[in-house]
Amino acid sequence: MSNQNATDNNTSSGYFITFEGGEGAGKSTQAKMLNEKLQQYGLCVLQTREPGGSIGAEDIRNLLVTGNPNRWSPTAETLLNYAARDDHLTNTIRPALKAKKIVICDRFMDSTRAYQGAAGGVRQSLIKHLEKEIIGPTTPDLTLIFDIDPDIGLARTHNRDHGHEDRYENKPKSFHQTLRRSFITIAENEPDRCVIINADQSPQDVASSIWNTVKTRLNIL
Ligand code: TMP
Repeated sequence: MSNQNATDNNTSSGYFITFEGGEGAGKSTQAKMLNEKLQQYGLCVLQTREPGGSIGAEDIRNLLVTGNPNRWSPTAETLLNYAARDDHLTNTIRPALKAKKIVICDRFMDSTRAYQGAAGGVRQSLIKHLEKEIIGPTTPDLTLIFDIDPDIGLARTHNRDHGHEDRYENKPKSFHQTLRRSFITIAENEPDRCVIINADQSPQDVASSIWNTVKTRLNIL
């Protein structure tokens, strides 16, 4: 692991990687593949997700991802996501980083910026304030932004079984187009942290793009 990057999250010498993007971009599959690959190199990995990743946060997840698309206002969603994130950081992410693990998290703060901020219209000042107070120095060392045309991503989600977790997939198309632009803007504004991954490739090609980035950042030869 590079010494500089390994201490960026200010928690310890663990390394914090987040996966971000719209619906149906293949993040969960790729998170699993990266986890397995890193373990082949003898590295200690914790794979987790948001909303969720701790007992309390998984309870909050059920409130967020099921039911009517208009069930919550975007502000309520922001606060629920940050309640879940606080629990997740306290009980899962920070202990793992402290134990020097590589944490792979499927969605994190950029999803709130994109879904609730850009697409939902929540004030950036509220989101920035929550980031500062709840996340503090535990920001990701590396964020992979999965980019795909929403038409292709949404078509993929319609072909998979995900229980009743379809609240966001049922939002209008314009919502998903705004999300895509927002994630790209986040990546452009923070080029040291974020890398855009073309998710419209075969799973093997996506995995090798990810591996090229991760192995460089972690100084894996
Ligand atoms: P998933 O389908 O990737 O597991 O994510 C669950 C949904 O939650 C997804 O549609 C995006 C949404 N979400 C937000 O709207 N804001 C957030 O802060 C997070 C973490 C997820």
